[in-house]
Amino acid sequence: MKVLADPQVFQQQSRKWRTAKKSIGFVPTMGALHEGHLDLVRACRKKNDATVVSIYVNPLQFGPKEDFGQYPRTLQKDLDLLQAEKVQAVFTPSDKEMYPEGFSTAVEVKGPLVGGLCAPFRPGHFNGVATVVVKLLGAVEPDRLYLGQKDAQQVAVLKRVIRDLNIGVETVVCPTVREHDGLAMSSRNQRLTLEGRKTAPVLYKALKVGKSIVDLGERKAEKVLEEIRKVIEDEKSVKIQYLEAVDAETLAPVWEIKPGIMIALAAYLDNVRLIDNIII
Ligand code: PAJ
Repeated sequence: MKVLADPQVFQQQSRKWRTAKKSIGFVPTMGALHEGHLDLVRACRKKNDATVVSIYVNPLQFGPKEDFGQYPRTLQKDLDLLQAEKVQAVFTPSDKEMYPEGFSTAVEVKGPLVGGLCAPFRPGHFNGVATVVVKLLGAVEPDRLYLGQKDAQQVAVLKRVIRDLNIGVETVVCPTVREHDGLAMSSRNQRLTLEGRKTAPVLYKALKVGKSIVDLGERKAEKVLEEIRKVIEDEKSVKIQYLEAVDAETLAPVWEIKPGIMIALAAYLDNVRLIDNIII
């Protein structure tokens, strides 16, 4: 397994693969890898001759009061996991390699895709994600990009960016991988207290309650969201940041539940911000 940090060296590696007619699949991550990431890696391995994973905690996508400093960094363990998955190459750029002195360009995402859900609570976040992913795609030049449905708004934004900027990559979205008790796997789960970890599955439990109400015939989004909110608010330590019913593609808010609707939420628990969603 190659571990490369220099974007130009990575481009040379990718060109070698391309010349040898090998397809390249790419899984961008911020490390602290868990089964959710490894599921993307496995999906990528199945379809591509070369699987590339990037590990980079991107400062541009964290707000000044967010957890950039506390974000878990477990590089050696991550590399061991990726080696075991038989990944061909890992891209681990440094901040200097990603944002050298004089760096002056950024991707700005506007419009309804960043009008709701996480965006209003994380100003600049999706511009930071879009900028880093465009840079990573420029270094890796993959045929396919693998993303997780857990970060549904990120998926919608990146698909749009790829289309808008004519980036020649196919996007593959993989379902959310969960712990046995339903909690969506996240690098941030490690920062929960023991008590918080026991409470956290309430988020998915509540989303499933919402889905079951829809299955019983309820069509008013407001009613469904109210029931979900009740389940979560039973746990006093959980603070909902947002809870919305949106169209899964456009992320526009909806008032009536129809197929293709997504219910998404963000909540704080132990000062850790968790997100989750369910497609109805
Ligand atoms: P990170 O949070 O490390 O996630 C990397 C990829 O793994 C993302 O596509 C994310 O949606 C996916 N993922 C995380 N948890 C998952 C789960 N439980 N099930 C399925 N997929 C899961 O998302 C980022 O990093 C960054 O924003 C990045 C795209 C790397 C840009 O910096």
